[in-house]
Amino acid sequence: MENIYPIFDTILSREDKQKLLKQRAIVVWMVGLSGSGKSTLARALENTLHEEGYLTQLLDGDNLRVGLNNNLTFSEEDRKENIRRAAETAKLFMNAGLVTICSFISPVEKVRQRAREIIGEGYTEVFIECPLEVCEQRDVKGLYAKARKGEIPDFTGISAPFEAPTSADITVNTAEQTLEESHQILVQQILDRIKY
Ligand code: PPS
Repeated sequence: MENIYPIFDTILSREDKQKLLKQRAIVVWMVGLSGSGKSTLARALENTLHEEGYLTQLLDGDNLRVGLNNNLTFSEEDRKENIRRAAETAKLFMNAGLVTICSFISPVEKVRQRAREIIGEGYTEVFIECPLEVCEQRDVKGLYAKARKGEIPDFTGISAPFEAPTSADITVNTAEQTLEESHQILVQQILDRIKY
């Protein structure tokens, strides 16, 4: 039977949505130790892009681990699952045309590689570089002190591994730059990639 409603047959693509929103959708995947500044920079990036007229979505441990991922711990297996679900979610937002900003420790190359594979073209890795000593000195949430006392098991950098990315697309160093400098570098690099 001839379909008299061709609109029902149309599958809208990422390109259609990008065209509507006049932006290129990517996933900005921010990697770094707790206290490196990734959440602060992710929030700042989202705010600036919003002011510039881009539609964005922020995903981080705070919003995913209380909802979708609330059954996951910080064991190696659970972190792998945390990142897998985060990457699948990010991909959905990206395919809806949004600039999706993800802020997860993503501690080892294996889990980052998985995220890269799931997301595919558009995965943009940003390393928020900061030596462990500096993160520990900052200890914004008091977690490093607790981890040193053995009160938090599997704490990244203390009792669980962190492998610095070697193939990040963008790197900022929050120990050597001010937050404002890192922010400016990030904004410039991302704007170049999302301009339609
Ligand atoms: S991961 O490794 O990518 O699955 O971690 P993520 O989902 O980004 O969650 C990191 C935040 O959880 C808090 N937290 C811990 N981090 C590391 N190790 C352990 N054991 C741990 N327990 C709780 C910590 O506040 C992290 O937040 P950020 O924003 O990174 O400081």
